[in-house]
Amino acid sequence: MLGHLLHRAGIDSVILEDRSQDYVIERVRAGVLEQGTVDLMHASGVGDRLAREGMRHEGIYIAFRGDRHRIDMAGLTGGRAITIYGQNEVVKDLIAARAATGPPLLFGISDVSIADFETSMPAIRFRHEGAPHEVRCQFIAGCDGSHGICRPSIPAAHLQLYEREYPFAWLGVLANAPPSSDELVYSLHDRGFALFSMRSASVTRLYLQCAPDDDIDNWSDDRIWSELIVRLGTNDGWKPNVGTIVQKGITPMRSFVAEPMRCGRLFLAGDAAHIVPPTGAKGLNLAMADVYRLATALESFYRTGSEALLDGYSARGSTRTWRAQRFSWWMTSMLHRQDTGNPFDYRRQLAELDYLVSSRAAMTSLAENYVGTPFD
Ligand code: PHB
Repeated sequence: MLGHLLHRAGIDSVILEDRSQDYVIERVRAGVLEQGTVDLMHASGVGDRLAREGMRHEGIYIAFRGDRHRIDMAGLTGGRAITIYGQNEVVKDLIAARAATGPPLLFGISDVSIADFETSMPAIRFRHEGAPHEVRCQFIAGCDGSHGICRPSIPAAHLQLYEREYPFAWLGVLANAPPSSDELVYSLHDRGFALFSMRSASVTRLYLQCAPDDDIDNWSDDRIWSELIVRLGTNDGWKPNVGTIVQKGITPMRSFVAEPMRCGRLFLAGDAAHIVPPTGAKGLNLAMADVYRLATALESFYRTGSEALLDGYSARGSTRTWRAQRFSWWMTSMLHRQDTGNPFDYRRQLAELDYLVSSRAAMTSLAENYVGTPFD
């Protein structure tokens, strides 16, 4: 998206990706787009397929003690909503836009390193198709994720890191089964958290809380379905439709923030700067807000010579990031079973859920954070 926005502003960029094109297109990731992300895709001319295939959801369900409670997000936020559309579909659309307009996008690069980013002419070195290359540029955007090389290239003394691990993980599955609910269901059950989501009219996406050191080989398809049905099924007889599981995996959960999001002419964006647990569905959307801000700041720099927006990039990002951190931590703590050995904690969570679904103020607080704040 950053490359696409820069291209539209007449600014050249080179995009380097270490994975293959097939890998990034196939890999199933998040699927909830905030209103701001949807608006940005439309405004930048890459929203056609999203408009046709995206599923706009105006509410979500919160389930506990066997009952589902709807939160009317659009009604509580003046008409804002989320759209279900896979992150890999977004990536597919952006790769197509890049291919149609021509600027470089290299896949399968290796041995990447960055240098001189505290000068006005940083360098990126890498290998592509066996040959060594060096790109000299005016700025580097570190959009290379939490395991990328950009953040660790910044001198440690320059960065403040904040981190929190959670004592559980998510087992995610993709199944060929028509969704049996037209909106997402977040459920807290005695046996742990479960989430019902979807990708299309024929594909369901589901998650189960599991132990962080659990092995996917412990989870046969039968065990996954029986656990999903127990944790998600409600007293009115609703349960997920069963189908063939086509993909499954376990993801640990953590919260992480690096500040500032900048060192000289290196700007961090997305997971390179911050990780949120997936319960609030914020990861992709935070990254989109970062690159929108960065593209706007670079455009202003090239048009006027002013560095004011570049100088404000990190502080403005921090405020947004911490708001999303707070929300994701809150959703996670409220909806997961904690093995504290103290029954007080679980009763307190149920009391919190009771309050949430009975108070318009509490539902509004969830809704306005879930649909997301505007990007600027
Ligand atoms: C998803 O559909 O992948 C999804 C939905 C909601 C979340 C996280 C992931 O909170």
